[in-house]
Amino acid sequence: VQLKPFNTFGIEATAKYFVEVENLSQLQAILQNPQYQSVERLILGGGSNMLLTKDFDGLVIKMSIKGLEIIKETDENIWIKAGAGVVWHDLVMYCVSKNYAGIENLSLIPGTVGAAPMQNIGAYGIEIKEVFEELEALEIATGDIKKFDKPTCNFGYRESIFKHEGKGKYIILNVTFKLSKKPNFHVEYGAIKDTLAEMNVNELSIKAISDAVIHIRQSKLPNPAEIGNAGSFFKNPEIPSTQFNILKEQFPNIPSYPVNETTIKVPAGWLIEQAGWKGQRFGNVGVHAKQALVLVNYGGGKGYEIKELSEKIQASVKEKFGIQLSAEVNFI
Ligand code: EPU
Repeated sequence: VQLKPFNTFGIEATAKYFVEVENLSQLQAILQNPQYQSVERLILGGGSNMLLTKDFDGLVIKMSIKGLEIIKETDENIWIKAGAGVVWHDLVMYCVSKNYAGIENLSLIPGTVGAAPMQNIGAYGIEIKEVFEELEALEIATGDIKKFDKPTCNFGYRESIFKHEGKGKYIILNVTFKLSKKPNFHVEYGAIKDTLAEMNVNELSIKAISDAVIHIRQSKLPNPAEIGNAGSFFKNPEIPSTQFNILKEQFPNIPSYPVNETTIKVPAGWLIEQAGWKGQRFGNVGVHAKQALVLVNYGGGKGYEIKELSEKIQASVKEKFGIQLSAEVNFI
């Protein structure tokens, strides 16, 4: 099966076996099917955070379990349970239309609900951990359904238990979010404020913030339907403030965000741009001209070409700044 339509990088690679599941019993049947017992598995949501570096010699399970359910409501909050296969932005648009606040800053992030907790998706001042209530996942080894609350998920910056101890052990079935009926707007992120002003928004609303975020993302980030990409290719590195202070002497304009008293986060996009990569094209692959953190496939690019480019960028940033960038996308 050709995986090109199932990864936003638009990489051509095949899977030996491919199934799409729409409910729990289909998923259980696939996991118990003797044919698939000894093959490698890849659980796929929107395919928006992965790089296929070669053909996949195993079983791809495309998670398409849908469904939105209100499971609890108070005067202040509402709890919505969404199936793993729900498209993330569809959930955001539903909440915006109903005035349920909390995820409007996360508008237009590609991917599905089930994939969102894996890397604790975040943008414009919000991470999903802030609205996360719990999730249900199928434990592959036992077939049991397990609940994970927020502490168990061990969320961090683009991190969760599902990228570490839980890696490959669970399949997320649904996620419950706790949203607010009384919004608490997050507009600290400079670009949001500027965009709201440009849009002549006088009265803040969930819809206005969502519109602003959509506007910003559309102006900076390539649309995967047009140019293959997986959003930020690297994480923004966190470095000790002692190291940062030395760099700051050499590069006075280096941007930074404090993480805690001893750690500073530096935008990888800035490092990559300073190292001269922004807008560079090499055959069918390259570095996006408007956001250096995004690697792109102009069409026909191979996964290994993107991988090689990413390694060259890592080496050059390491040489210039002494900082090791780590990938945010998963290599398959
Ligand atoms: N910058 C540059 N050159 C560039 C890109 C960025 O100098 O080409 C510098 C600028 O100083 C800019 C700063 O980096 O002010 C921050 O840039 P931006 O606001 O575009 O955000 P980012 O740090 O590059 C992160 C997330 C994005 C998220 C935005 C907005 C990561 C790895 N990426 O990018 O997430 O949308 O913030 O909150 O944390 C994603 O994960 O796929 C993703 C797109």
